Amino acid sequence: MRQVTLEMIFKHPITQRYLRRSGIAHAVNVAEYAYTFAKQADVDPDLATKAGLLHDIGHYNWYRDGEWDFSLYRDNDIHAIKGANRAHKLLIRIGENPKAAKAIALAILLHTDSYLPEGQLHLSPLQRVVALADEADEEPAGHHHYKQIDKGTALARLIALDQLIDQDHRTAAGSA
Ligand SMILES: [Fe+2]
Repeated sequence: MRQVTLEMIFKHPITQRYLRRSGIAHAVNVAEYAYTFAKQADVDPDLATKAGLLHDIGHYNWYRDGEWDFSLYRDNDIHAIKGANRAHKLLIRIGENPKAAKAIALAILLHTDSYLPEGQLHLSPLQRVVALADEADEEPAGHHHYKQIDKGTALARLIALDQLIDQDHRTAAGSA
């Protein structure tokens, strides 16, 4: 059994507080895409789904007059940096293995290059899986951040992912 599950992460007050800013529906979709892509790329789905769920946890609210202000956001955003730090702190607090917490934090840090100077990032397979999962759920004008989901549905989908990952780990341990 894993020490930390998606269910535990999702239920934590820090996740509940910050994940709503960028949308829980988007976070759950990205965790599911991350699972699929991780299996295709032979990456640990445990790390990929946790990074997928938490990848946007660093968002600030860039509201002006009740509307998200994209130019403010573009100029000032550091959500990947903030998110990597916030996710790492949360994961360590709830008992995640420090190596896993670091790998997840790095995947969050590098899931977008929108805040970085021009250039090419050389992503590890895990980091590429998380970036692709985020892209897979993106919609024009940031609409993916506004999609709605009720908390019970989000939790049920994350518990289903937890079960798949536990099964994968059991299979991997059995064949080792
Ligand atoms: Fe995202």
